[in-house]
Amino acid sequence: MAQDYLLAPSILSADFLALGDAIQQAEEGGADWIHVDVMDGHFVPNLTMGPVIVEACRRATNLPLDVHLMIQRPEALLGAFAEAGADSLTVHVEAVTHLHRTLEAIRNHGLRAGVALNPGTPASSVGEVLDLADLILLMTVNPGFSGQRFIESVLGKVRQVREWQAQERTSALIQVDGGVNRKTAPLAAAAGAQVFVAASAVFQAPSGIGDGLQALRSALATVSV
Ligand code: DX5
Ligand code: ZN
Repeated sequence: MAQDYLLAPSILSADFLALGDAIQQAEEGGADWIHVDVMDGHFVPNLTMGPVIVEACRRATNLPLDVHLMIQRPEALLGAFAEAGADSLTVHVEAVTHLHRTLEAIRNHGLRAGVALNPGTPASSVGEVLDLADLILLMTVNPGFSGQRFIESVLGKVRQVREWQAQERTSALIQVDGGVNRKTAPLAAAAGAQVFVAASAVFQAPSGIGDGLQALRSALATVSV
């Protein structure tokens, strides 16, 4: 069966001096969403961007802004990111005490609610919130940096969530993030992934952003599920 895969290039590997231009090129190259990696230096050992960058991205594109919050206590900043123009907000199950309440709060802002799991976190950690998630993000690296190697053992979790979809326990899209490139994207797709985040494979592609996206698209076209 043909499957419509969504590509969500992460601006973490873009040239921040020319961010608007990089986003424009991603849009012209066929990106479906723009992924924004927010890191706080506490939940992950790196510090990146906040609502002001989301607000700038909002002015650069009409594509959905997919904001991945790798921060502790994300609930305190949901309003700021919503106001900045995010379309989806994804929180980490490891960073939130009241996951049920937080996912509800994201939806109450009118946004797509996502929940992310680190490689070491079992799929069962989201078993009680399957109906509150619009997006389940399975990290295929330990979050913090772009350019890391895809952790293949996460594919078992992708298959598990795909099974929950088939059983109609969730309608959340399955997203993979980390080490996604033309070799690993088809593996994740075959396991059931539907949304592909890639930073270095797109924004650091030697032949350009458009070619980076095209290479992923072509690799995914070879997958039959
Ligand atoms: C990892 C971030 C990813 C990362 C992906 O902490 O959540 O979105 O930027 O980078 P690549 O695609 O280079 O592995
Ligand atoms: Zn991310």
